[in-house]
Amino acid sequence: MAADQQFANLKELTDRIGMVYGTEDWCMFMYSLVKMQTPLNVLELGTGLGATALWVAQAMKEVGAGKIFTIDNGQDWSEIVAKSPELFTPLQRTLDFRAYMADLVAQFSLQSHLEHLQVTMPPYPEFEPGLDMLFSDFRHGPNDILAILGHFLPRMNESSSIFIDSASTSFPSYALLELLVAQLNAGKLPGMLLKATPAAMHESLWRQVRGSRYTLMHMVERKARLQNSTAWLKIEPVDLRPYPQAPFH
Ligand SMILES: C[S@@+](CC[C@H](N)C(=O)[O-])C[C@H]1O[C@@H](n2cnc3c(N)ncnc32)[C@H](O)[C@@H]1O
Repeated sequence: MAADQQFANLKELTDRIGMVYGTEDWCMFMYSLVKMQTPLNVLELGTGLGATALWVAQAMKEVGAGKIFTIDNGQDWSEIVAKSPELFTPLQRTLDFRAYMADLVAQFSLQSHLEHLQVTMPPYPEFEPGLDMLFSDFRHGPNDILAILGHFLPRMNESSSIFIDSASTSFPSYALLELLVAQLNAGKLPGMLLKATPAAMHESLWRQVRGSRYTLMHMVERKARLQNSTAWLKIEPVDLRPYPQAPFH
């Protein structure tokens, strides 16, 4: 498929299916960010119908590097197909979730850049090497955020980003993140986060906190629907320059 046709087909697909989880614009934001920052290792928790994973993989394909692993147990799939069959082709309606994802990946020739893992979380995967981006899009309560950050924060690369869907428009989650980031930037590790972090990762987490600065950005969409936000936690080494590194001019 020609590159411009692939782009148009992907846009048509995610404008249609992206509405189910409200990621039809978010996925384009992630496409742009991946093209600009060229992360090599990206992990998504909650594939949904694939909108974000497909655009991240498409950006990686255009850049020529990078891979997104996306985890989803497919628990919503049969209900979505039953409720909104018009979103899918006759073939897709006959597939299980694993085959639906494999079909999309093949259709857009994204096999080198996208891998779907059909497992239930938690437990969260051990991820080696470190992550450049994490997009968590399946749970956003305060305890879930602590569990996710406890597991993944020490596994993030020194210049990296964590995105937590819906957290900025849920007050308890918003407040937790604000408190947490203020303490991290003061060089402190709150007990509740430490408790959610495996003991074997405590030293890595302390090292990260000592050597990092954290920026929290609440990305809220002005749209008439719920869960209209993503919290963006950017991690950078303590330095006198922004990351990812680019020459000063
Ligand atoms: C909001 S959707 C993800 C949307 C997607 N990130 C996008 O870009 O459109 C959440 C997904 O998480 C999955 N999910 C929910 N709980 C899960 C669990 N405990 N383990 C694995 N997947 C889960 C659901 O099947 C659903 O597809």
